[in-house]
Amino acid sequence: MEIRRIDKPWTQIEADWLIVPVVESAELSGALAQLDQALGGIVARLKSLGDLSGKLASTLPLRGVTGIGATRLLFVGLGVANDLTLARLDKALTTASRAISDKKEVRIAFAIPGDAVGAISPAEIVASAITASLVGSVGQDLYRTEKGRHPFASVQIAASGNSSEIDAAVARGTILGEAINLTRDLVNRPPQEITPLGFAKRAQAVAVEFGLKIEVFEKPRLEQERMNSMLAVAQGSPQPPCMVVVEHNGGGPNAPKLALVGKGVTFDSGGLSLKPTDGMLTMKCDMAGAATVLGAMAAIARLKLPVNVVGYMGLVENMIGGAAFKLGDILTARNGVTIEVLNTDAEGRLVLADVLSYAVDAGVDRIVDLATLTGACVVALGEDVSGAFTNNQNWCDAVLAAAKSTGEDVWQLPMWDLYEDLIKGDVGDIKNTGGRWGGAITAARFLQHFVADKPWVHLDIAGPAFASSNKPHREAGGTGHMVRTLVELARRQGK
Ligand code: BES
Ligand code: MN
Ligand code: ZN
Repeated sequence: MEIRRIDKPWTQIEADWLIVPVVESAELSGALAQLDQALGGIVARLKSLGDLSGKLASTLPLRGVTGIGATRLLFVGLGVANDLTLARLDKALTTASRAISDKKEVRIAFAIPGDAVGAISPAEIVASAITASLVGSVGQDLYRTEKGRHPFASVQIAASGNSSEIDAAVARGTILGEAINLTRDLVNRPPQEITPLGFAKRAQAVAVEFGLKIEVFEKPRLEQERMNSMLAVAQGSPQPPCMVVVEHNGGGPNAPKLALVGKGVTFDSGGLSLKPTDGMLTMKCDMAGAATVLGAMAAIARLKLPVNVVGYMGLVENMIGGAAFKLGDILTARNGVTIEVLNTDAEGRLVLADVLSYAVDAGVDRIVDLATLTGACVVALGEDVSGAFTNNQNWCDAVLAAAKSTGEDVWQLPMWDLYEDLIKGDVGDIKNTGGRWGGAITAARFLQHFVADKPWVHLDIAGPAFASSNKPHREAGGTGHMVRTLVELARRQGK
């Protein structure tokens, strides 16, 4: 997809679609008035008829227009100007991009307002438009002969104003859009392709392309590192496990190290506590935490953020078989904690246990982990909201603030000591499930045993990481949820 910035009046832009954002009760002034004039007053007419409401994420196409350079127009509503946020903007522009990416080789252009819309600057609109055109034009139909979505042939950005700011926004929007699409791609690919080593191979390519340091710990190294909790999960599968470590050192030798840790269960059958078909159907998505970490690391490296960040991805397949780990097994994790296995389907925490304690021993200063960890979190918060859990409120506040600024919905749940009783072991130190109630929290309390005293936030992304149906503003399948937040968090750490 070719991305180009142009400084031309909207009326002269040649494209298959010119996307024109409009706010509610917009006055026809400036560039929009010129466009109206060139089109013989149709914009004013549509407004007075109530067809052009400007309501958030509403779209109105005009095909076969004459009098301007573009052959089609797509108006997209931004809602009330003063209520505009980055999240609303993304929703509107991704809706527009999805609405016109059903054909091949489409050339689009965005008409960027010359002034801020409410609190959102023209440069932010540019970045959002580019990200939206990348994310909205790629579908989950990777293996379909007749695809439903097609990347645009070209995207023109018609923006006046400070050109270096706009150029930087184009670069930022591109990097973020491609990072989100990388995460989506990894989640959407079938589990026979994205095995632990299949994932590692993709990570290797990403690291080489964007200059990340990478290490892949294969099974012998995991054994040497005493990562026996993670290895137990892998036992039932012929696919060997691995841990991928990628590193971006943009902050110099003395800057604090941020660790991003991802659950990468490339397929979760449930193990001997086998899932029923309905529950297993989407379990290729159980590596979304790892895919989110890799997507964010790619963006952090490409943006050359002045921070030190390490991504740790724990990759295993959870399968059944004669060698599979069993209910009643006692696992000794890397840090010496003994774990009673009550349910082999509570495997994500067993993987994260060792990866987290590896990160702690590696001397990182702050940790965020991401995992499609529990159905209970989806029950608690719904499909579109991630749960946050922490041992350090200041660090959690920093993560929540980054999420808020990017418009990704995260809600903190409590970590009171009363939950600890539910995972106390009978034979070993702790049990890998705490029973039915408060399941998202008992899972988080389990993880807390492996982070020592490091400031740590656990994000349970089981709901939002994978969407069950299409919406006008997003495709079903992998969503790339939390890539934006992680990149923003790293950016803030560098300040
Ligand atoms: N990967 C699942 C959680 C999940 C559920 C992710 C739905 C995405 C959508 C996890 O490994 C799991 O199976 N959790 C169990 C835990 C239980 C056995 C304590 C669950 O949520 O039922
Ligand atoms: Mn499971
Ligand atoms: Zn799982």
